[in-house]
Amino acid sequence: MTIPVITIDGPSGSGKGTIGQMLARHLTWHYLDSGALYRVLTLQALKAHVDLHDEQHLAAMALHLPVRFVDDTTHHRIFLHHNDVTEAIRSEEVSRATSILAASPLIRTNLLARQRALALAPGLVTDGRDMGTVVFPHATYKFFFIASASERAERRYKQLQDSGVAANYDAILIELEARDLRDQTRAVAPLIPAFDADILDTSGMSIDAVFHYVLAKINPKATIL
Ligand code: DC
Repeated sequence: MTIPVITIDGPSGSGKGTIGQMLARHLTWHYLDSGALYRVLTLQALKAHVDLHDEQHLAAMALHLPVRFVDDTTHHRIFLHHNDVTEAIRSEEVSRATSILAASPLIRTNLLARQRALALAPGLVTDGRDMGTVVFPHATYKFFFIASASERAERRYKQLQDSGVAANYDAILIELEARDLRDQTRAVAPLIPAFDADILDTSGMSIDAVFHYVLAKINPKATIL
């Protein structure tokens, strides 16, 4: 049986994670935040003081990464061993280091099987950078979200402020643009839309508006969902 998969790729802050989680909940499908896998690996490497350029070591760690995704009705939480690292993997330090580590072809290859194994009945919604191009090239429906860098930085700034973390908008913008550049220009699985992806600019759109756009697009495919 072919498991239906919906992919949402795009840069950070484009809304793919929020919409991906909403959609998975709406459809009662599984959800994979693929960026979290790369982030958990980075966190584990930082904790163990592994050199972030030691590709062989990191790739071996990727094969046996003790990560678990736990979904209750309202939250999507991520565990490394028995520790809840949902918040810890979002720090600026982890974000910066992850985009360096994610450029490694060997690490990416070693995370492929784990990602594909999460395509389970009744279906999977997944977001990332290469879900529609590399990991699930035969996905049922593919979205690619974009948004202006200033709006994405603004969203991140608000998110940090709301969670009580001191934030500097200019620093966030500079860091975000540097990360975009690394993700877009790396040799393996760069951040580019799949040829058959539906591209949506979410700048100026509310979460509800994006969600309704996505639902309207996948509804005609309801017979195979
Ligand atoms: O989506 P995110 O911000 O959590 O992603 C964190 C980093 O991981 C980012 O630098 C891009 C990288 N990543 C990737 O290379 N491939 C994916 N499928 C998902 C994320």
